[in-house]
Amino acid sequence: MPKSIIKDKFNRPLRDLRISVIDRCNFRCQYCMPADQFGPDFEFLPKSALLSYEEIERLAKIFVSLGVEKIRLTGGEPLLRKDMPVLVEKLAKIEGLSDIGLTTNGVLLPKLSADLKKAGLKRVNVSLDSLNDELFGKINGRNVGTQPVLDGIRAAREAGLGVKVNMVVKKGLNDSEIIPMAEFCKNEGLQLRYIEFMDVGSTNGWKMDDVITKKQIYEMLKKHYELEPADADYFGEVAKRYRYKGTDVQVGFITSVSESFCSSCTRSRLSANGQLFTCLFNGNGHDIRNFMRNGATDEEISSRIIGIWNGRDDRYSDERTAETLKNRKKIEMSYIGG
Ligand code: GTP
Ligand code: 5AD
Ligand code: SF4
Ligand code: SF4
Repeated sequence: MPKSIIKDKFNRPLRDLRISVIDRCNFRCQYCMPADQFGPDFEFLPKSALLSYEEIERLAKIFVSLGVEKIRLTGGEPLLRKDMPVLVEKLAKIEGLSDIGLTTNGVLLPKLSADLKKAGLKRVNVSLDSLNDELFGKINGRNVGTQPVLDGIRAAREAGLGVKVNMVVKKGLNDSEIIPMAEFCKNEGLQLRYIEFMDVGSTNGWKMDDVITKKQIYEMLKKHYELEPADADYFGEVAKRYRYKGTDVQVGFITSVSESFCSSCTRSRLSANGQLFTCLFNGNGHDIRNFMRNGATDEEISSRIIGIWNGRDDRYSDERTAETLKNRKKIEMSYIGG
């Protein structure tokens, strides 16, 4: 299919597609799927509701024809979905795609890294919020220590995958880990990104008071390290990055709360059951799965996506105020994959 470029109401092109492949996770991170809300009786999506790999591949091809260059696979925990390398291989064959990444808690990377790399995956972003086993076990809600994640990071690197580390920072919970995590990642040559705790969904009890901002973290880092700004890797990059002076190692900040980045947001999101979302905070999904299952042709699906993107006016983080916080219908992080 020849590539077209479509723009939304603020002239933002469609460049990225984040695909959630499963809404389940083997962790219960407090800020994402708190264990008391996602208990044994929680009803996750049944298998029949999930997009099949063939359906994902078909949609991905259509999105690429509309300008998407980067695909990121997310969850829940994407590696819980059976045979992920098979999906990666299908996606990697799509012409016009420059990047395929995956965001994971890392635990299954020792088992899957080599096959994922072989299938064409380029990079993984691994979540790790603390180096302290007890604290990490408390944060992930499953008492899992840091070793399985560290083993996952090592396996991914050995397989030749690019690795970044994501650390969600929540005040009073893991701010004590800001410097130890910096030191560890710097010594290992890993890019660490501090993520401001966000008000995604309605189960994580978010309060503005719990947020530690980029500025606060930056000031803490400056006491220990000399930092210099690094250029953005791509237009609309989510992280603001710096380099530890005299090294090649970078550190980044994802500042959704304190310095929003909606004006350059080129990201669309497909949930595991095939709903298209135009913003992480927009609770109204567009049901592409049933449209497709009811027999829509590629052209019809394409026109529908164009219509949705042309009508997009989301800029939630730019507009975040007490009123928008109260009145929004929101989707859970584990459902939309961040
Ligand atoms: P690369 O830059 O391609 O490595 O990936 P990424 O940082 O976009 O993806 P990742 O899944 O690692 O996400 C890191 C954090 O950024 C998560 O907390 C996401 O929820 C957040 N994030 C990603 N895209 C957006 C966005 O469009 N808006 C907001 N508010 N947060 C985002
Ligand atoms: N705020 C910020 N980041 C979050 N993540 C999950 N929940 C939140 C939240 N409430 C992060 C995960 C993972 C990425 C997909 O999103 O830690 O790295
Ligand atoms: Fe699972 Fe990631 Fe959510 Fe933690 S942040 S519960 S690892 S999906
Ligand atoms: Fe994009 Fe919505 Fe995030 Fe703004 S809040 S950067 S519009 S996903």
